[in-house]
Amino acid sequence: MPRKKVIKILKQIKINFEKFLEFNDYNTIDTRIYIKKENKYKKLERYNKLIVLENEVKNCRKCDLGNSRLHTVFGEGSEKAKLMFIGEGPGYEEDHIGIPFVGKSGKLLNNIIASIGFTRKEVYITNIVKCHPMLDKANPDRRNNDRAPYNTEIKNCMYYLNEQIKIINPKIIVTLGKSATKGLLNIKENISTIRGNIKYYQQIMVIPTYHPAALLRNINLKKYVWRDMKKIKKILG
Ligand code: SF4
Ligand code: URA
Repeated sequence: MPRKKVIKILKQIKINFEKFLEFNDYNTIDTRIYIKKENKYKKLERYNKLIVLENEVKNCRKCDLGNSRLHTVFGEGSEKAKLMFIGEGPGYEEDHIGIPFVGKSGKLLNNIIASIGFTRKEVYITNIVKCHPMLDKANPDRRNNDRAPYNTEIKNCMYYLNEQIKIINPKIIVTLGKSATKGLLNIKENISTIRGNIKYYQQIMVIPTYHPAALLRNINLKKYVWRDMKKIKKILG
């Protein structure tokens, strides 16, 4: 082949290759912008859905707890959390402020969350019931007036938790203690037998562990929660 023709072909190959690179560049940038926009949209959609649901809870009187509560306690954290914690129900402090886990148990829960490298803002925290279960419902301003929620109260409130789970779609749910574990999974086993085991709620992984209040009463339980947290960290990567 004459030298001139070879040079011409090589030049054409170079032009085509540059065009190909340009096209690829354009495509990846475009896809990245699209994914970013879609993620932003999904985040906003989840956020809006949670606000609507929270307003529903604020007006809820589906069970008797709605008549004695001071504040509803909907939940707090990231709408795109990979990890969701479910407690038993608001106590005295939570009922007065409207935010979950702000008392002594809350401080310990913050440390548990930090032990696996997260902050409260990065996870989602809520309870199996959204209003304060009281021993004496006429005295919401009395301390040490907390009790575990009744099964009927849990059943009435389950709709809201179910919606929260659907909206946030976490990778792992951690149930804290007996009420949350039995309420969510509908099982009879004790928390001491079931903790650390992997269960599922609507195809989402559930790992039950002890409630922080149980650790405050019995320091020996701490090692089990630590084991469960290490397992969670390993799964989340
Ligand atoms: Fe409604 Fe749940 Fe409060 Fe009962 S505990 S009143 S079901 S929000
Ligand atoms: N204990 C719980 O189970 N939930 C709270 O929000 C506070 C204490």
